[in-house]
Amino acid sequence: MQKKKNTQEMIMDPYDRYELMVNGTVVKTPIVLASMAGVVDAAYALARKEHAGMVCIGGYSIDEATLAASRLLVEAGRDEFLTDDPVAEIRAQAEMLAESGLVVAVNMRGSAPESFAAAARALGPGMVYEIDAHCRQEPMIAAGCGEALLKNTEQLEETVRALKAENVTVSVKIRAGVADDDRALAQALWHAGADILHIDLMDFGHTKLRQIRNACPLILIANNSITSFSVVKDMLAHGADMVSLARHADPATLADLDTKMAAYADETGWYNAPKQLCRGGDIRSLTFCCMPVKNCPLIPSLEHLGISRNEFMSIKLDGVKNTLIEGGENTCFGSLTWCCKSSTPCIFRNMALQQVGLSLPDYMRYKRRLSEKLMKRVFEGDAFYATE
Ligand SMILES: Cc1cc2nc3c(=O)[nH]c(=O)nc-3n(C[C@H](O)[C@H](O)[C@H](O)COP(=O)(O)O)c2cc1C
Ligand code: SF4
Ligand code: SF4
Repeated sequence: MQKKKNTQEMIMDPYDRYELMVNGTVVKTPIVLASMAGVVDAAYALARKEHAGMVCIGGYSIDEATLAASRLLVEAGRDEFLTDDPVAEIRAQAEMLAESGLVVAVNMRGSAPESFAAAARALGPGMVYEIDAHCRQEPMIAAGCGEALLKNTEQLEETVRALKAENVTVSVKIRAGVADDDRALAQALWHAGADILHIDLMDFGHTKLRQIRNACPLILIANNSITSFSVVKDMLAHGADMVSLARHADPATLADLDTKMAAYADETGWYNAPKQLCRGGDIRSLTFCCMPVKNCPLIPSLEHLGISRNEFMSIKLDGVKNTLIEGGENTCFGSLTWCCKSSTPCIFRNMALQQVGLSLPDYMRYKRRLSEKLMKRVFEGDAFYATE
């Protein structure tokens, strides 16, 4: 018997819910199946497709040096996808996922930029190419890939550029705390053309995530020990666009996270809305900031960004012109553009919203648009926001 869906599930289109696209495909839920060599293939992903939006199959070793490293790892008892023809194997796995509704990424270990470019040339733009700059197994590091790339960032950037020359979507899987400066690395990868940063946060948690969010406008996938919805919410509120799971990607955990995430997205209207700036939010939270008239964290933040108070006021006021959140004369600063996040209770904001017929989730959708305009200014101006 078919399970009865609730009304919200029936009317909410996945794009309307998350407004998230990767490689030209709508991401139906911001949950990613992170790669595990020898484990994460098409069959693994198909068994979890109901409650995931993207999968990183692999890792696959794609050239002689990394294949030799894989053989050594197998001899040492580790699981690896060992094949003489990695391109044919990746193609076959991707074909099995063609109708899955998942965004497919392939996590690859290569010892030279050209190895990645050759794979992309052979396989085409239908999948995301994820550079494994994460593996810390000794034979991989000796082959110049995995974590070695976090110490040889020039080669990592070169690899991004080589893939982008093939017109494909590029993700870089990194382990936080290995490169000299993760914020500088994020900026360098963004400038090299990367589209996605997939970050194993290790024990650094949301502090590191917020630093990276404040350094680049890339799609961010937060990874490591994502096991409960409270952890997911913490990641989303500090800059993650998606979360990924490897060791804990069992169907029950995925179903639980997906259901709670969908309910949260529908209830709030902006599934990864940041915390307010004065509560430790990342710079997307400028969308919730007041007029710059008091002594609060906004002022040093604008100074860091090189945005004057007048310019900030113009961006916020122009950003809502002719929209339903332009008005709000009885709110603190005369326009809803200066108003707080919906989770902060406020009768004046709510009355102003009622007058224009806006629900709180719709208000948050407008705030998301405004935040995108603010981010455009921040990153087109190439500001570097150094904050802890
Ligand atoms: C057995 C195993 C194999 C892994 N293989 C890869 C790999 O090939 N490429 C990669 O980028 N990460 C690999 N990872 C790292 C995971 O994708 C993930 O970053 C890490 O396990 C932390 O996330 P988790 O707490 O959700 O497991 C592997 C992890 C495990 C446990
Ligand atoms: S402007 Fe308002 S919301 Fe922003 S940091 Fe200051 S007090 Fe907080
Ligand atoms: S009116 Fe309410 S929501 Fe708007 S700025 Fe003032 S306290 Fe915040």
